[in-house]
Amino acid sequence: MAQEVRGVIAPGKDEPVRIETIVVPDPGPGEAVVAVQACGVCHTDLHYKQGGISDDYPFLLGHEAAGVVESVGAGVTDVAPGDFVILNWRAVCGKCRACLRGRPWYCFDTHNAEQKMTLASTGQELSPALGIGAFAEKTLVAAGQCTKVDPAVAPQVAGLLGCGVMAGIGAAINTGNVGRGDTVAVIGCGGVGDAAIAGSHLAGAAKVIAVDIDDRKLETARSMGATHTVNSRETDPVEAIRELTGGFGADVVIEAVGRPETYRQAFYARDLAGTVVLVGVPTPEMKLELPLLDVFGRGGSLKSSWYGDCLPSRDFPMLIDLHLQGRLELDKFVTETIRLDEVEAAFDRMHAGDVLRSVVVL
Ligand code: APR
Ligand code: ZN
Ligand code: ZN
Repeated sequence: MAQEVRGVIAPGKDEPVRIETIVVPDPGPGEAVVAVQACGVCHTDLHYKQGGISDDYPFLLGHEAAGVVESVGAGVTDVAPGDFVILNWRAVCGKCRACLRGRPWYCFDTHNAEQKMTLASTGQELSPALGIGAFAEKTLVAAGQCTKVDPAVAPQVAGLLGCGVMAGIGAAINTGNVGRGDTVAVIGCGGVGDAAIAGSHLAGAAKVIAVDIDDRKLETARSMGATHTVNSRETDPVEAIRELTGGFGADVVIEAVGRPETYRQAFYARDLAGTVVLVGVPTPEMKLELPLLDVFGRGGSLKSSWYGDCLPSRDFPMLIDLHLQGRLELDKFVTETIRLDEVEAAFDRMHAGDVLRSVVVL
């Protein structure tokens, strides 16, 4: 039996979000219905509302979520009702070239639930943000979007791994391959950059240099494991990073802003054999100009990180276990917990840079 639940809808371009009754169908083959327990408010939800991602209104927002599987459809064996899970953006196929080469984050054939959730009032189909739509009491996803983790973790903490925090930690430990004794610089210390700092700290980096234009952000970065901070409004960050690394530059520089000028800083602040990881998301009109000779003359590698190049089934349970052991303080990313009807206000606070994460708790 389809069920009616409350969910947060972005009805049209730049219109305020509102709570509506949505219809969640029973799970079909390969699908699961999840009772959402917590869902973080992310920039991407705001971009959906503003029309920056697609015109496919109405959107059912929310995508950084954890909850309990309520029911599963035919053929689902990896998760069962009662399992505590973190949701991810898409189920991977497990069969394509990317999957077979062990890089499922590049999977050519990812999917979400096939059935649609709808608006109870009009019957209109909803587009779930990033194939999840978890600012709702229940949501329908592909079963492969659910990853079981230890239920001892608080849901508002677990949900963070569904997006920004995983992107940042993964940029450091998966893409950047940060290892013990490495020097790391992170440019941009919002939620993603702070997670890259926490990931670098976890990986045993000797120095973690945080760069931002806002002193408040640098203070938080320190609490996440940064050993040094640089305000790049006051100090040339390239010079400062070189000075702090014996003149060499950092082994790994993580760009977590997504702008050409900060990417350029990252490019020049790395060691000759260092790695630059771009995890900040640029906009389509942005261009980068670099002397090709500088690209040639410096070795190392230039990488981008997609969703932290994560493998949910490997990384989510591991990071939750590390958190439960007290080795990864994920709870520091939760600035506040809010109700479903406070999402619009949370967007304003996020826009003002006042919060790392507001998390809706249901
Ligand atoms: N130099 C250094 N830091 C900067 C600069 C700059 N020129 N411009 C902005 N910042 C800092 C901000 O002060 C803020 O602390 O970058 C940080 C960006 O953080 P958030 O806006 O909170 O964004 P976040 O959620 O961390 O995401 C960062 O990754 O996933 C992408 O779309 C996301 O592009 C965004 C990036
Ligand atoms: Zn997100
Ligand atoms: Zn695949």
